[in-house]
Amino acid sequence: MAFPTVRARRLRTSGLLRGLVAETQLSVADLVYPLFVVPGTGVREEIESMPGNFHLSVDALVEEAKRVSELGIPAVLLFGIPEAKDEVGSGAYAPDGIVQRAVRAIKTAGISLLVVCDVCLCEYTSHGHCGIVRDGTVENDATLELLAKTAVSQAAAGADIVAPSDMMDGRVAALRSALDAEGKHEVAIMSYAAKYASAFYGPFREAADSTPQFGDRRAYQMDPSNVREALKEIELDVEEGADIVMIKPALAYLDVIAKAREAFNVPLACYNVSGEYAMVKAAARAGWVEERRIALEMLTAMKRAGADIIITYFAKDVSDWLSCRE
Ligand code: PBG
Repeated sequence: MAFPTVRARRLRTSGLLRGLVAETQLSVADLVYPLFVVPGTGVREEIESMPGNFHLSVDALVEEAKRVSELGIPAVLLFGIPEAKDEVGSGAYAPDGIVQRAVRAIKTAGISLLVVCDVCLCEYTSHGHCGIVRDGTVENDATLELLAKTAVSQAAAGADIVAPSDMMDGRVAALRSALDAEGKHEVAIMSYAAKYASAFYGPFREAADSTPQFGDRRAYQMDPSNVREALKEIELDVEEGADIVMIKPALAYLDVIAKAREAFNVPLACYNVSGEYAMVKAAARAGWVEERRIALEMLTAMKRAGADIIITYFAKDVSDWLSCRE
């Protein structure tokens, strides 16, 4: 059967009908909201390159976490900006480090929220790289021990999920065995399994003060040309014990998300990163795009590609937008 009996437009005639046949549902229940914690008290400073997102001291972060929870967002992802940095990133695994204090404060306040902690050294090292640097290169195996210490200290503070974003080989296995040795069997690992060396991280590096002081991250993060390699990275992480795997960035990597969805049977996350967010904000401010429509379209595309979980700076906006749908 064909036209004129068959008319594809028939199912597009009203909003109710379009909703009824929609194949993809964007839901606040699938979102994770990143938060940046800084030293001090009473600090709530907007991040210039990421409007609507803030540098928050621990006390202000607790207030923000309450609001996030009230909006129905189930999880936050914490990044820390420490008082001081050194060659070995000690602030990342200090028992009273900035992120550890933040997790404790959220948990002590009894807020109904999953707390995910980014596991990486780049915000804590003076050179801005994600691991230990020797002779100008990031040493993989020496870094693993410090990443494991970081995850264990975050778990001890009350983290529900740890999320290694460093791209060292073997870090998922290192984290799992260190967590298990401490009896932290219930703490899940969400690995940034396929994380590309991307220009889309620009605004974040300003927000987290984590720009490498020499060179770049291409010797550990993935080449944007590759998709088969992403599947290999994900497979390795799943074998090492990752509970959730992530693809990052999201928008320019929807093909990677779709392929991973077909190949793996674990929850799949994607990270709608700072550059993706900043581009929309900037163009919307200039009046060139409609922020709400373009953001919802992007996020819906990530779900359509196969992501179960979306980490996004739009999380609070999405909650507003979805509660008053046209
Ligand atoms: C830390 C880390 C980065 C992001 C998340 N964790 C930056 C980087 O790898 O340089 C980027 C997040 C974003 O751009 O929103 N390694």
